[in-house]
Order: sequence, then structure tokens, then C-alpha cells
Amino acid sequence: MVSIRVFLFISALLTINVMGQDPPTLYQYYTEGGISSGLETLTTRQFTLNGKPITLYSGSIHYYRVVPEYWRDRLRRMRSAGLNAIETYVPWNLHEPEIGTFDFGDGGNDFSPLLNITQFLKIAQEEDLFVILRPGPYICTEWDFGGLPSWLLRYPGIKVRTSDPIFTGHVKQFFDQLLAQVVDYQFTRGGSIIAVQIENEYGSFGAANIQTSYLEFIRDTYVEDGISELLFTCDSAVSSGTTGALPGYLMMANFNNNPAEQFDKLLELQPDKPLMSMEFWVGWFDHWWSTHDTGLTTDRLTTNLGIIFSYNASVNFYMFHGGTTFGFLNGANSKGSFPFYEADTSSYDYDAPLSEAGDYTTKFDIIKDMVAQDNQVSTLIPNPPLINAKIAYPTVAITEFLSFEQIIQQIPADLITQIDTVTNMEALEINRGSGQSYGLIVYRKQIDIPPNAELQITGRIRDVAMVLVDGVQKTKRPEGALLLETFGYWTQENPNFTIIDPPAGTNTLDIVVENWARVNFGSPSDFEQKKGLFEGPVSVDGQVLSNLTAIPLEFKSKWVKSLTGWQPVEGAGQLQGPLMVRAKFQIQGTPTDTFLDMSAWSKGCIFVNGFNIGRFFLQGPQVTSYIPAPLLKEGENEIIVFEHYIPGTQIVFTAVPNLGRKKITN
Ligand SMILES: *[C@@H]1O[C@H](CO)[C@@H](O)[C@H](O)[C@H]1NC(C)=O
Ligand SMILES: *[C@@H]1O[C@H](CO)[C@@H](O)[C@H](O)[C@H]1NC(C)=O
Ligand SMILES: *[C@@H]1O[C@H](CO)[C@@H](O)[C@H](O)[C@H]1NC(C)=O
Ligand SMILES: *[C@@H]1O[C@H](CO)[C@@H](O)[C@H](O)[C@H]1NC(C)=O
Repeated sequence: MVSIRVFLFISALLTINVMGQDPPTLYQYYTEGGISSGLETLTTRQFTLNGKPITLYSGSIHYYRVVPEYWRDRLRRMRSAGLNAIETYVPWNLHEPEIGTFDFGDGGNDFSPLLNITQFLKIAQEEDLFVILRPGPYICTEWDFGGLPSWLLRYPGIKVRTSDPIFTGHVKQFFDQLLAQVVDYQFTRGGSIIAVQIENEYGSFGAANIQTSYLEFIRDTYVEDGISELLFTCDSAVSSGTTGALPGYLMMANFNNNPAEQFDKLLELQPDKPLMSMEFWVGWFDHWWSTHDTGLTTDRLTTNLGIIFSYNASVNFYMFHGGTTFGFLNGANSKGSFPFYEADTSSYDYDAPLSEAGDYTTKFDIIKDMVAQDNQVSTLIPNPPLINAKIAYPTVAITEFLSFEQIIQQIPADLITQIDTVTNMEALEINRGSGQSYGLIVYRKQIDIPPNAELQITGRIRDVAMVLVDGVQKTKRPEGALLLETFGYWTQENPNFTIIDPPAGTNTLDIVVENWARVNFGSPSDFEQKKGLFEGPVSVDGQVLSNLTAIPLEFKSKWVKSLTGWQPVEGAGQLQGPLMVRAKFQIQGTPTDTFLDMSAWSKGCIFVNGFNIGRFFLQGPQVTSYIPAPLLKEGENEIIVFEHYIPGTQIVFTAVPNLGRKKITN
């Protein structure tokens, strides 16, 4: 018996030898005999890495959109599709949350656990993937202010994405910190980074606003700080041409359709350079108040990728795994016509090859097959890891709540300021001179409000306002159509609100303004977005309100966890927002991925054991919110919801995501 087993074991080994050895790993193949050069564009139509030809099959994944416990899992899934590289942006606004305070994992901030970029670079290398790094400083990516810190808006007239010395001074300070972290992780120093991008789609900033000196400043900062890998820019080649490029540096193209036009244009602009699509948009993102946009159909994906490969081009799939825009970090688009502004959802599923929860989709299978066909270099590819289980935990009732006034009473005194007139949140003298970045801001005034008084807000509301009198919500829950033409929205169609039946005597008037996201894409005027009220006075029956109290609702994790005074819920269905509600539940054994179904709620955000997993809104399209298992724990777990209008009565879990009614595409 034993000898038969030994025989089978030996014959198995022999079989492997006879059938040929395992192919080398990617790093073995490209670093064999030592590293003498990085990624280069010496030959036409193909890159070389350390002197060997390489076609890049890359995929976008953002470390700050995936909990760190899942970094390795997601990267292995990407490698199992045959990819040889991954791309990530770097979010300046998370890495420098307050002026001069940097966070690369140990800042004690809500996002700190997601910010150890060197850890991510290391894991990428361990998972046999090269890295393309896009530090920005502007990164677009459906991310608040395109990744720029909100405190930049404290400088009057600052011109971001230009050579404005105030802007470049701050970029330099940040890049010196960031690049010191990553410099040793470059390929030619034995690390994973093979290429670094200069700015981001700078051509889209508008030809009249482009400053080559600004691109040169970024290039020079990279070089001074020791970056020696290949530098490049990207844009739509067709619409931008060389606008936004830096002479002498490789241009790449971004698109979802018409790859041939894009590559023909690149070949015209730089005939002797390899081709690459830096962002081949395989899916798309969603705006609140819209339908679920899945971007390219699988047929289109197949056709367009076929064309890309027919050019022998390299490609980065944007996104390969989108993940989640946790917290208040989602971006927005501006547009020239009604409704002018569209905030992005918290799910960044993107209809990507790997779903928000890391599941394989049809797009994954298509890409895996086509890459295997195209790839001329045989390296060791891992088997796709098993799918992570999903579970619908039992429904839990809401048992406790905090009224709006109870919430306000727990805001630390050092965050509350008196202001002469309404002021944007960024300008508040709080957070060590960095102002308020995210969340909501309350403008409070003690005043005798006569019956049927006319409240008037002059100038912009950024973005949505609620009016409370003595803690009672006066504005309506946003259901149905035509809402954006009523009071309280950024559209400014109607600046007046009639306060019917205020209680007699002195009242507390609260105007609560939600920052729903700063725009992340467009021309310079789109980058001047302050949040709150700031353009004109607020008046009641024509009397201008001065000496107001500004109360920031930042919902930082430590504060959320510290809240006390929770009251028991009696008579579910009686609760009125704005308020916070709490539910606790038990998990036996190791937690599992799950989703919350928020269809019975109105508008707000969700904290899972203190971590803000993002926003919900009854107008959709997103219905469910993803909870990755690492945010849960064995034993007691706590879910807190901040609800603007009318809360649901229970927390409902589901094992199946629902990103909403699909947009019709072809
Ligand atoms: C980040 O990761 C690196 C590399 O694994 C590690 O050495 C370092 O201690 C980590 N930093 C923090 C702040 O956790
Ligand atoms: C692509 O590469 C193949 C193999 O090297 C070559 O035969 C073909 O001509 C190339 N096609 C283009 C469009 O460069
Ligand atoms: C808004 O209220 C002001 C007085 O507070 C009044 O003068 C103005 O006509 C009102 N505007 C509209 C559109 O009702
Ligand atoms: C401004 O309002 C605060 C708080 O209501 C009050 O204490 C203070 O006396 C007011 N100051 C002036 C100048 O009215």
C-alpha cells in the first residue's frame, strides 16, 4: 500500500517534469539575471521591461476603496485573469486630511486603515503584479474634488491645477511625503512600480487653462524626489490631441468606444511609441436620481478589446475592481443644463469585471479568455480564488435613537463657532485651521419667527438644505418628480420657504445644509465649489440674520462611537428625522459579507461598528449598501444610521446586491 502511494507520488512528479516545468512567475521572468532597466518605449508598438518585450494587461483597483483585509484577495483575482499589472490613483485629500498632517496608515483617522500605500504596493508584488501609480495630485475618479483637499478652498482665488504658487506649494509638500514612501518600491529598485502618471486628463481642463509649466513642476518634483520609472500622461487622444501632454513624454488614450480612432490619433502624434489605453472604461458609474449605468455591453467589450489587441496595444481596464466609495468621499459631475449638478453614488461597482463585493462577472470571463489568447509571454497564473460567501443576517429592529438636538448637544464645543453671516464649511476656524471638509453644516439662530414667515436664502445652496424650527423638520422628504425645482436644492429655482405655524416665542431656527460631494471633473469654474451657504444673506421676512452659530456635523468615527444618551424607541414608525438610530445584533463565528437593503429609508448615511460605509437615498438607483465582512466582528455588532427625513423601522440585510433599475444601453 505504502509503496504504491510512493510510486504514485513519484510518477506524479515525473509527469510534471515530463509535461514541462511550471512557467516562471512574472517577476522571475522579467528580473532574471538582475534588473538593469525599467519600462521603456524603445521599440514601436511594444514596451520593454528590463529589456524584454511586454504588453501590459493592467486593471484599476484603488486601495482606498477596498478594506485592506481584502487587498490580497482582490489582487489575486486580478492576477488570475491573466493581468500582469494593476493601476491605482493616490487620494491627496485622505493622505493630508488637515494642512500639514499626513496619514499613510497611522493617522488615527477614519480612513487610516485603508491608507498604507506601501503595504498595498508590497502585496501587489507578492501577488506577482506590477504597479502603475497615478498620484495626481488631481485624480478625478468620481471622488470628492477629484482628490484635492477641501482646505485648499480656504485660499481666496486659489487656482488649482495650475502653477499658482499656493497650490504648487501644497502639492510639493504632499508629494515630498508621498514619494518618500513609495520611492523604494520602484521596479528598478526591486519593487513593483513600473510607471508613474503626470497629472490626470489635464487636456480635459480646457485648452485655455492648460499650463505646461504646471506639468513641468510635477515632472520636476517627481525627479527631485527620486522617481525614475517611465512617466506618461493620458487623455482622450481624439479630443485633446497634445493638449495636456508634456512634450517628450508618452501619451496614452482614455476611452470606452472607437479604439481605432484613438490609437490612429496616437500613432499620428507619436508614431514611434508603443500604444496603451490608460483607461479603457469597461463599465460606468452612477449618479443619484438616475438609473444604473453598466457602461459597455459584453458584446461591445469583446469587439473593442479585439480592436485594442489588433493594434498590439497595452491596456488598463478601468475599473477592474471598483469597490466602494466609503464615507462622504463620492464626487459629482456638473453639467450645463438642468439639474446642473449630479452627485455620485457610494457604490463604485462600475459594472467592473470584479463586482463591488469581488465576485466574478461575465466581463471577467471575457477579459480572461481574450488576454490568454493575446498574451505571448507564458508566466505562472494562479487559479481564480473561490467566491466569498454572502449572507442575509436576520432582520433587526431599531431599538434606540438620538434626536437632532441630542446630536447637536454632543458636538464638541471647540467645533462650534459664531459667524457674522453665513460662511462655507471650509472657511470655519476649526480642525487646526483646515475648516470642515465633509458632512453637513448647521446654521443656527435664536429668533422670534412670526406665523407664515418667509425664509429666504440668497445665493447658492451647496447642496441640499433642510429647515428645522425648534428641532422639528419643516422640509419634505424628497419623493416624486420636480423636487429639484422646489426650495432647498442647488438648482436655486426657488429661494423662499414659508414657515407655517412656528411655536410662539423665541424659536431655534436651523438651516441644515448637506455637502453631497464636490465636483471632480470639468473646467476651472467647477473646481471652485465651496459647501454650505456663503453667497448671500439669509433673511426671515426680509430681516437679514447675523451672528449665527455654525455647527459642523462631520460624523467622524470616534465621535459616532462616543455618542451617549440613546433613548429607547417606542412606537416604531413615529420617528422623524433628522436623527440617528441604532440597532445591535449578534454574529456567531466568523462574519460574512452582506448588504443592507435601504429601500424603506429616505436619505442619509450608515455606520457599521463606527465606520461610515456610505450614503443611501430613496431616489436611487443604488438600493443596497455593501458591508465587507472585515467591518463586522464575532459577537455584538452595531449599526447606526443618520437619517435626514423618515427612518425605516428595521435594519434589513440581503445576500444579493441591488444597484437599481438599469439604464438601457446598446
Ligand atoms: C505600512 O506597511 C509597511 C509595509 O508592510 C509596514 O512596514 C509599515 O509599518 C506600515 N505602516 C503603518 C503605519 O502601519
Ligand atoms: C502585432 O504584432 C505581431 C506579432 O509581433 C505582428 O505580426 C503584427 O504585424 C503587429 N501588428 C501591428 C498592427 O503592429
Ligand atoms: C421671497 O421672499 C421675499 C421676502 O422675504 C420677497 O420679497 C420675494 O418676492 C419672494 N420671492 C418669491 C419668488 O416668492
Ligand atoms: C451672538 O450670538 C451668541 C449666541 O446666540 C450670543 O451669545 C452673543 O451674545 C451674540 N452676540 C451679539 C453681538 O449679538
